[in-house]
Amino acid sequence: MSHPNSFYVTTPIYYVNDVPHIGHAYTTVAADVLARYWRLRGRDVFFLTGLDEHGQKVQQAAAKAGIDPQAHCDKLAPQFQEIWKRLNISNDAFVRTTDAPHKSVVQRYLQELFDKQLIYKADYTGWYCTFDERFWTEKDVTGGLCPDCKRPIEQLSEHNYFFKMGQYQDRLIDHIKQHPNFIRPESRRNEVLGFLTTQKLGDLSISRPKSRLSWGIELPFDKDYVTYVWFDALVNYVSALEYLRPTPSFEQYWPANAHLVGKDILTTHAVYWSTMLMALNLPLPETIFAHGWWTVDGEKMSKSRGNAIDPNKLVDEFGADAFRYFLLREVPFGQDGDFSQQAVISRINSDLANDLGNLLSRTLTLIERCTEGKIPNPALPNYPEEIEVRKIAIGLFDKVENAFNAFQLHHALAEIWKLIDRTNLYLEQMAPWNLAKKEREKEKLATVLYTAAESLRHIARYLYPFLPSTAEVIYRQLGLGAMPLDALKDGSTSERWGGNLQIGNPINKEQSLFPRIIDTIGELGFKKSFEAKLIKKGEPRVTEQPQPASAPPQGTATPAVPTAAPVSPAQITIDEFMKIQLKTAKVISAERVPKSEKLLKLQVAVGTEQRQIVAGIGKKYEPEALIGKTIVIVANLKPAKLMGIESQGMVLAAGDSEVRGLITLLEDVEPGTKVK
Ligand code: MSP
Repeated sequence: MSHPNSFYVTTPIYYVNDVPHIGHAYTTVAADVLARYWRLRGRDVFFLTGLDEHGQKVQQAAAKAGIDPQAHCDKLAPQFQEIWKRLNISNDAFVRTTDAPHKSVVQRYLQELFDKQLIYKADYTGWYCTFDERFWTEKDVTGGLCPDCKRPIEQLSEHNYFFKMGQYQDRLIDHIKQHPNFIRPESRRNEVLGFLTTQKLGDLSISRPKSRLSWGIELPFDKDYVTYVWFDALVNYVSALEYLRPTPSFEQYWPANAHLVGKDILTTHAVYWSTMLMALNLPLPETIFAHGWWTVDGEKMSKSRGNAIDPNKLVDEFGADAFRYFLLREVPFGQDGDFSQQAVISRINSDLANDLGNLLSRTLTLIERCTEGKIPNPALPNYPEEIEVRKIAIGLFDKVENAFNAFQLHHALAEIWKLIDRTNLYLEQMAPWNLAKKEREKEKLATVLYTAAESLRHIARYLYPFLPSTAEVIYRQLGLGAMPLDALKDGSTSERWGGNLQIGNPINKEQSLFPRIIDTIGELGFKKSFEAKLIKKGEPRVTEQPQPASAPPQGTATPAVPTAAPVSPAQITIDEFMKIQLKTAKVISAERVPKSEKLLKLQVAVGTEQRQIVAGIGKKYEPEALIGKTIVIVANLKPAKLMGIESQGMVLAAGDSEVRGLITLLEDVEPGTKVK
């Protein structure tokens, strides 16, 4: 039995028939998040990934490239290793099935099963497709055509070796029933159980005659055959423990805690691998987790469609952390999801730039400005708002741990965001920028800034598995230095509020975390344009270009509205209204947008933040007349572009097609104040 304090996580080993795409990146990033989390919790983690280099697919790809299969693998392997480095993947080992020690473990297991008479030779008759070089069963075939390539197929008989898989059927059903966490999520577990309890499990052909396929591991008991690629590949999960660690580590790590796989390869893992392990008298892994598939702009991703997304491009464009975040936040782990450039940009702008980036930058700016750049002393730590932030921060430990135990990675992120949102709200409620003006509020100000900084320390630690570089940067900027590798080891003590921040310690403000991204539609060279993604069947057409809504004048940035849907004059509830964040803002600078009569480009201060807003008020106002004015803006409007310039909000003005007057304030209210 593996050591209770260890954690062994694997990804599938990827076929080297093509370069890496986001599907590969997805499983690998998810495994990395698990590995990093359990390391933070002080567990001894072994994280394995690698390549599946044998079999038909690889042989065909090499033949197509006109090179020897091994040379083909050697050429492609670095592309996988390189992208894992770029994505900050912290794997402890990298297995390649052409490694000599792996091959000998596979041969040893084959021989063991052969000696135990669990492998036997028999005739196999089936429908064979010469083009795809594979057999199909009777039920797959309709009209004498290959279900895959639709070419005519023929009946073929050949001798093969079979593993007595069928005899383990009942044992496997019992195992699945007795171990509710063995196949996750629940829906997949039910699928496998459904199949196993209604169909007879046959034996598995584990050989291929060399005359048909030569690129594989030779059967130790018959040199005319190689072994079936799955028998070879699945063994990687144990062979790596024998030869990729300096010391024997089988006892330490086996059985694996988590095999992460895509839903398409669940059967090979849950049925082939489990029965192979039973036959070899080895314990079964704790969990096989099957995640969903990504489509791209609503379409299946495939080589032939040419829409496979290169993860390198995403790292180039958005950075590794933002891409990692998108993959795990956008879709509940286990379900299918759709990838689009627009979805990535929205996530970055709203969650990373607005919520997280803003929280860090406003906190540090205020500490720099108001407490000499040093962590202040929380002299009055018992305001109800402060107690609430503290409670959420302390409670996060259990929430995140539960989410990780259940592989609900999206849920862990959602919990972390609750703390980010609550801390942002806290800053707005306490308005430290106002406190800073009054000498008698000094202690309160110090408490508020300390609370925000301490909350950010918690946020950084929990974010680390997902956004390792960002978490390190937050830690550094808070003046905490490098994050300890086991920063969450002892939940009961190190989780305590105020455990690590040293009062009086200087912070280290650097550049902002995630600059907002201005939409670069199509510039990534993705197959489908952004427009196509927005128009889905049955949905009203939504356009990203600002449309004039009923009240604001033309050219003023307004929310995207569904143009095909009738504009309803219906009343809205107070909750709906509360979704619109109105705030005061002070105009810092204003200039005309070239070639436009109406548009002015404003830089406005909103609290400690500066924003750019493009407003259609240029016919009514000269830019200079606006500088220093306090106006009202919609602060939570999705950014949009007007004549190619990004607008991060909307200015409120009276008038219909023509602007009659800007909404301003009688008093000089602090910019960033809520308007309701
Ligand atoms: N070599 C086998 C695995 C052997 S494991 C002992 C294999 N390789 S693969 O390269 O074809 O696929 C590897 C993984 O990528 C699978 O988990 C698969 O689900 C995943 N994905 C491939 N396309 C995908 C998407 N479009 N979306 C998400 N994951 C996808 O199978």
